[in-house]
Amino acid sequence: MKIGVSGASGQLGRAVVAELVRRGAGHGVVGISRTPERLQGQAEGRHGDFDAPQSLVRAYEGLDRVLLIPSVDLRPGVRGRQMKDAIDAANNAGVKHLFLVSAAGTRQAAPPEMREAYWTAEQQLIRTAPTWTILRMNYYAEAMAQEIQMSLGTGVLTGLGEERVAYVSRDDLAAAAAGALLSEGHAGAIYNVCGPAAVTGADRARMAAELTGKPVQFAVITEALLRGGLAQANLPPEIVEAMVEIKHSFVASAFDIVSGDAERLAGRKPRALRDVLAATLT
Ligand SMILES: NC(=O)c1ccc[n+]([C@@H]2O[C@H](COP(=O)([O-])OP(=O)(O)OC[C@H]3O[C@@H](n4cnc5c(N)ncnc54)[C@H](OP(=O)(O)O)[C@@H]3O)[C@@H](O)[C@H]2O)c1
Repeated sequence: MKIGVSGASGQLGRAVVAELVRRGAGHGVVGISRTPERLQGQAEGRHGDFDAPQSLVRAYEGLDRVLLIPSVDLRPGVRGRQMKDAIDAANNAGVKHLFLVSAAGTRQAAPPEMREAYWTAEQQLIRTAPTWTILRMNYYAEAMAQEIQMSLGTGVLTGLGEERVAYVSRDDLAAAAAGALLSEGHAGAIYNVCGPAAVTGADRARMAAELTGKPVQFAVITEALLRGGLAQANLPPEIVEAMVEIKHSFVASAFDIVSGDAERLAGRKPRALRDVLAATLT
């Protein structure tokens, strides 16, 4: 079998490719992106640009299964269009089974909402792919570790509410994706790939304080204050909008989902947020 990973040169893509090569049992592994040379010989590299659909049809030719990892392009509507084009290209290239990395809590949405991309991609996949599997990822534990790192100076972690989130580490998501790509029985499945427990903002602050030995508190603030803080950090407007949307989705419990899917697919228990923080913060 030939397995493709589209979006292969990024952090998640490289981790999936490494897992596939490690446990691939002789299957061919093909990494696709605009800069496949970044795979450095880990797997066969092919050029494919989500903004140039014809390049994707060529890149997906001869592949039995393809994992689509959306780009991190935050311009309104762009990622949804990219994923729709990539799914059409895979169908035109004759890919038999498409796997999609989507997000926990995905539901109907329209631009400029960031989560529109996942809704558009899931709907296109379900409507048109001959066989499909969706991996709805929780929020990256590594992204929370970065947020904690940045808040150590003030000693305050902020949120718009209690924010229960079942953070997943990038490596556990990669192992779950590789496990699904390499095994059978996933046609028509929507998995929630998450960490072992949902933790609140207060839990995160407590863990950060214990691990660093520094005072860290969690504070619930207003959207106006959150926007003010992000603007002060000179972040580009699309990042500010993305952060505000993510915090609202935390409050709406979009990421408050715990399942056994990560362990079932990866064949090992996912790491707890505390373990990821311990490796990063200390
Ligand atoms: N829930 C969360 O916590 C969270 C947070 C951040 C990201 N995400 C999601 O996680 C996934 C990957 O994250 P990551 O950390 O691996 O990101 P990353 O390291 O920035 O990788 C992005 C990948 O997308 C590829 N890409 C970008 N634009 C492309 C284009 N026009 N055509 C083809 N490929 C393109 C890049 O390769 P080239 O540059 O070589 O083309 C790269 O392989 C994304 O689906 C993102 O939406 C989720």
